[in-house]
Amino acid sequence: MYFKNMKPKSKIGILGVGAIGTVISYELQKSDSHVLFYYNRTKKDCLKLISENSECEIPINIETSITGSPKLDWLIICLKEHQYSKAKYWFKKLISPKTQIAVIRNGINLKAPLLDFAAEKNILECMIDCPIQLQNEGSYKVIRKPILTVNKSPIANNFKLLFDAQSIEVNQTKDFKTANWRKLCESATLGAILCLSGETCWVFQDKKMRDLYRNIITEAVLVAQADGAKIESSFINEMLIKLMTYPDTKSSSMLIDRLNGNPIELGAKNGVISDLGKHYNVNTPMNDLIVSLLSKTNREDKA
Ligand SMILES: NC(=O)c1ccc[n+]([C@@H]2O[C@H](COP(=O)([O-])OP(=O)(O)OC[C@H]3O[C@@H](n4cnc5c(N)ncnc54)[C@H](OP(=O)(O)O)[C@@H]3O)[C@@H](O)[C@H]2O)c1
Repeated sequence: MYFKNMKPKSKIGILGVGAIGTVISYELQKSDSHVLFYYNRTKKDCLKLISENSECEIPINIETSITGSPKLDWLIICLKEHQYSKAKYWFKKLISPKTQIAVIRNGINLKAPLLDFAAEKNILECMIDCPIQLQNEGSYKVIRKPILTVNKSPIANNFKLLFDAQSIEVNQTKDFKTANWRKLCESATLGAILCLSGETCWVFQDKKMRDLYRNIITEAVLVAQADGAKIESSFINEMLIKLMTYPDTKSSSMLIDRLNGNPIELGAKNGVISDLGKHYNVNTPMNDLIVSLLSKTNREDKA
């Protein structure tokens, strides 16, 4: 039966059903107000998630190619930076003028790869804090409740309404650029040192390693400031103090990718610091060296 005042369900596509895509899908599928469409490079038949010690397997239908256009209300993109060039095929098919797009990934300038396909006002950049571990048999274990940070805007209000506020936090900030740069400076510096040393945070017991951290993050902060981020000079000391609170066994996504033989998100981290350094005439010799050393051996992503 058709009810005249019944609100139509939102059609939401999730592109990239890996670690982050699985967590986001899991939260969205809890609501009756959405119809979900899943798109991924490799076929999977369910979302497998472990959270708060409960395990779930939710059957889903993943499309690995597409012919028509589903006229999505939302497209949520959960790809890694180096996966974007091969994923352009999807953008053309999945984005219509009415589609609002949320880009969830590490790095800065997250709208750039989508501007040929969508109006800027329809794209929302999302920074996510959500450590996830891949377990045996392809289950993703969520260590902490996801926190998304986005720029305060009408599209951000719409995005927030897609989720149950109890299970996923969507924080709006007036200065997304600064928040995102702070995260990038920190993660690129920690990630590079751990990845190149092949060791976890115990290495920072050595003052020489802390000095190295200071030098690398100082370059990153100078580039961030040149790009318009409002990062105070006290930030570097704050990060060094924070570094000393980490357990010796703390790792980083760059080290984990390296040890697992996966491509590292180098372009989204030290790569962008080095490139923008050249753009703004800020010298970044440490980050340039990191990029040279890591790109030489960085793996190509799957076709
Ligand atoms: N994982 C975390 O704990 C975490 C935490 C914070 C932030 N992040 C950030 O979130 C972003 C996403 O990371 P992630 O960990 O979710 O990555 P991921 O687990 O590697 O997931 C990426 C997914 O995208 C799919 N994919 C790749 N290329 C594709 C293409 N051309 N077409 C369709 N699907 C494609 C992959 O398919 P396959 O199944 O074929 O590989 C995979 O399922 C990254 O920027 C990451 O740094 C991650």
